[in-house]
Amino acid sequence: MHVSSRSWLAASLLALPCILPCVRAQSAATITVDSTTVDVNASSLAPAAAVVSNATSDSAAALFAPETIQLTEDVVANLSNINLVNASLFAFGADETSVEKRSSTGCKVFPGDAAWPSTLVWWIFDLLLGNSLIKTIPLAAPCYNDWPTVENAAECTYISNDWENSTLHAADPTSVMWPLYEGRTCMPTTDPTQNCTLGGYPSYAINVSNVAQIQLAVNFARNANLRLVIKNTGHDFNGKSAGAGALSIWTHNLKDITYIPEYSSSSYSGKAVKMAAGVQAYEVYEAARDYGVTVVGGEGRTVGVAGGFMAGGGHSPLSSLLGMAADQVLAIEVVTPDGRFVTATEESNSDLFWALRGGGGGMFGVMTSITVKAFPTFPVTTMQLSFATSSNVSSTVFWAGVRAYFDYLLDYTNAGTYAYFTSGATGANAYSFGLAPMFAPNLTKTELQTLVTPWLTRLAALGITVTPVITQYDNFYDAWWAVFPLESVGVTFIKTASRLWPKTNWASETSLNATFGAIQTTIEAGGSLLAFNVAAAENDGSENSINPAWRETTLHAILATVWSPIANDSVIVAASENLTNNWMQLWRNASPGAGAYMSEGDISEPNFQQAFYGTNYARLYAFKQKIDPTGLFYTPTGVGSENWYITGQLTGLPTQNGRLCPV
Ligand SMILES: Cc1cc2nc3c(=O)[nH]c(=O)nc-3n(C[C@H](O)[C@H](O)[C@H](O)COP(=O)(O)OP(=O)(O)OC[C@H]3O[C@@H](n4cnc5c(N)ncnc54)[C@H](O)[C@@H]3O)c2cc1C
Ligand SMILES: *[C@@H]1O[C@H](CO)[C@@H](O)[C@H](O)[C@H]1NC(C)=O
Ligand SMILES: *[C@@H]1O[C@H](CO)[C@@H](O)[C@H](O)[C@H]1NC(C)=O
Ligand SMILES: *[C@@H]1O[C@H](CO)[C@@H](O)[C@H](O)[C@H]1NC(C)=O
Ligand SMILES: *[C@@H]1O[C@H](CO)[C@@H](O)[C@H](O)[C@H]1NC(C)=O
Ligand SMILES: *[C@@H]1O[C@H](CO)[C@@H](O)[C@H](O)[C@H]1NC(C)=O
Ligand SMILES: *[C@@H]1O[C@H](CO)[C@@H](O)[C@H](O)[C@H]1NC(C)=O
Ligand SMILES: *[C@@H]1O[C@H](CO)[C@@H](O)[C@H](O)[C@H]1NC(C)=O
Ligand SMILES: *[C@@H]1O[C@H](CO)[C@@H](O)[C@H](O)[C@H]1NC(C)=O
Ligand SMILES: *[C@@H]1O[C@H](CO)[C@@H](O)[C@H](O)[C@H]1NC(C)=O
Ligand SMILES: *[C@@H]1O[C@H](CO)[C@@H](O)[C@H](O)[C@H]1NC(C)=O
Ligand SMILES: *[C@@H]1O[C@H](CO)[C@@H](O)[C@H](O)[C@H]1NC(C)=O
Ligand SMILES: *[C@@H]1O[C@H](CO)[C@@H](O)[C@H](O)[C@H]1NC(C)=O
Repeated sequence: MHVSSRSWLAASLLALPCILPCVRAQSAATITVDSTTVDVNASSLAPAAAVVSNATSDSAAALFAPETIQLTEDVVANLSNINLVNASLFAFGADETSVEKRSSTGCKVFPGDAAWPSTLVWWIFDLLLGNSLIKTIPLAAPCYNDWPTVENAAECTYISNDWENSTLHAADPTSVMWPLYEGRTCMPTTDPTQNCTLGGYPSYAINVSNVAQIQLAVNFARNANLRLVIKNTGHDFNGKSAGAGALSIWTHNLKDITYIPEYSSSSYSGKAVKMAAGVQAYEVYEAARDYGVTVVGGEGRTVGVAGGFMAGGGHSPLSSLLGMAADQVLAIEVVTPDGRFVTATEESNSDLFWALRGGGGGMFGVMTSITVKAFPTFPVTTMQLSFATSSNVSSTVFWAGVRAYFDYLLDYTNAGTYAYFTSGATGANAYSFGLAPMFAPNLTKTELQTLVTPWLTRLAALGITVTPVITQYDNFYDAWWAVFPLESVGVTFIKTASRLWPKTNWASETSLNATFGAIQTTIEAGGSLLAFNVAAAENDGSENSINPAWRETTLHAILATVWSPIANDSVIVAASENLTNNWMQLWRNASPGAGAYMSEGDISEPNFQQAFYGTNYARLYAFKQKIDPTGLFYTPTGVGSENWYITGQLTGLPTQNGRLCPV
């Protein structure tokens, strides 16, 4: 191939995929296409952004510096002055024309397709992004011979040893914490002759440092019909930040946090904290401690606060007292599917504001920051205890002890407390129970002791000896840090499903017995229980889209099935289907019409629309069609996801390793 003019380039950006080595970078300032060298420099291509005014439509929260760097119509118009660039690839979305494009092209464009952008287009895209485009190298690639440029035994050992450490995955542009849903295509291994493929990992990720990059990505993916995903930490239980052949917007490095002593809007006046999309729980908790305030985030240390966690509702050790994370939000900065950057509050873009607070991550746009209520400091008391079957404690007595705990779950959330507790088999007819911890915000040690005395008295009467560890802390941060250790992730031999058990199940002994019976039966069948005694306190802000089942619950219970780490796909499928269709059916039977938490739910949840969204689904679906008519944003079990499927999937083991196509 011989290239002689720039106009040829312009015409062929999409049409003729470039075959390497026809394009190569000679320096940061030129591209050579065959024998022709073209200038590419800061004044011609990068950065494709204008610094715009700091003012927002909500004057109470100033934009963060990365939010002031935006893509504007003027910048896009200027791109068409550069012969190299097909400016329409980066143009903001109209709506109707995009719908036509969508329906005529069917599936999202996939690597290898004629319509997949050429190497040159990716190269130019990278320049427009200010060199922040990262071609995916799977995290464990250093373990494999088929990645000779990165293969490295020492690095492989480090990654293998740290694989269950959430920090490792959060810091990688594309890794996800539950690789089962990526497709297990590049796990750490001691056998370098195995294959490592991209599988469900995206093809490219953008290491985002400003809003213009997000806008370019949204416009490019929409105009070129690419799959688009957002990765924040990669914590999502169902691998929602993965997607084969996708372009990924990686928000992890957006870390700004500011304190607003006097935020004021029509429905709230008081302290607030604004945090950028990449902020993780430990970061905002540290900042809040330093500001002398308290904010609502999750229990996990490294889970993002302003991404999928908040968007899914977000339960917190403070939720029984103060409400869900989404209930705290006062304003959101967001890039919408048409590429525009807007502020969503109860006054401006109010439908978007409603949908973003509970309707799910990766659905309605890319949030760049959220502003949340901040509360004064208060004391927190925690309690940890455990017991198990033993020579002195028969399984009958053990279950009576757990059953006694269930008698108090409503009292405990009414008192504003939260608890994480687990139970599972430890052998034949042998079980353990761990309360790790009960978390009592704004209660003193004495108050917590009074609250739990009735249960502890009954345990003693049953002959179950426990040694509760009760500690009072001055503030949220110290208590949270002490009792919630760094989360362990990365394993591929567990699958979870969950249920938001309604408070009405506590209305009579009969219904509570049925509740407990269903849970006990599934533990005896081999399931592991990971449960939260939590209520979503009433939302005193504007109405949001949190699953209404949250307002009815006092118990968010997760049931896990675990298989052998070396199990084959048929064993995994069988265990997974047993969980979804048999074990969980007992829970559904005992809680008719209740829901489940989308962010800690079953990727195969039957009738997920009802379970994860409840009566909000119809409104969310209609809004999704309106704001994202081309279906740019897709996540498994997301709003409108029933209109899409991923090719090549096994029933019972859905992954993101396949092409995304309309149903
Ligand atoms: C160890 C552990 C502890 C957890 N603890 C809690 C807890 O205490 N309470 C709780 O409620 N949940 C908890 N979760 C579940 C958690 O809410 C979900 O995993 C959530 O999806 C994580 O969001 P993320 O942004 O950190 O992760 P990601 O996996 O990166 O993203 C999840 C989803 O959100 C979308 N998203 C991310 N950022 C943005 C953005 N800026 N704009 C729009 N969409 C975005 C992504 O597209 C994706 O669909 C926990 C999970 C784990 C693994
Ligand atoms: C520019 O990109 C658009 C897609 O947005 C495409 O329809 C058009 O054909 C491209 N033009 C050229 C000259 O490649
Ligand atoms: C930058 O590139 C443009 C277009 O390719 C060229 O006209 C200009 O001379 C270059 N500027 C510099 C400083 O190299
Ligand atoms: C935005 O404005 C505020 C004051 O209104 C100022 O403190 C802040 O530094 C400005 N930020 C940028 C990025 O200009
Ligand atoms: C667009 O190009 C014109 C002419 O080169 C320049 O004056 C203007 O500043 C550019 N606009 C933006 C937003 O870059
Ligand atoms: C997890 O990784 C981080 C970053 O490397 C490290 O600081 C931390 O100690 C690790 N934690 C564990 C439990 O290994
Ligand atoms: C790796 O992939 C190649 C090509 O698809 C295949 O022939 C080979 O059997 C694979 N090797 C292993 C160990 O799976
Ligand atoms: C991402 O960008 C940040 C700066 O914003 C930089 O510190 C970091 O090293 C980059 N990470 C990767 C993986 O490129
Ligand atoms: C069982 O009870 C005896 C007598 O009360 C006590 O000495 C022993 O420690 C108990 N064992 C366990 C496992 O609790
Ligand atoms: C904590 O309790 C005190 C009374 O003991 C009450 O005044 C205060 O409002 C409570 N704080 C929160 C955040 O609920
Ligand atoms: C509930 O279960 C307990 C313990 O199994 C039993 O003693 C009680 O009679 C049951 N109550 C009802 C109303 O079924
Ligand atoms: C999968 O493993 C199970 C249990 O080891 C075995 O019975 C079955 O034949 C295997 N299936 C396949 C397809 O290899
Ligand atoms: C399904 O669960 C039942 C108990 O409810 C158990 O006996 C059976 O072995 C399980 N099957 C699989 C494939 O896990």
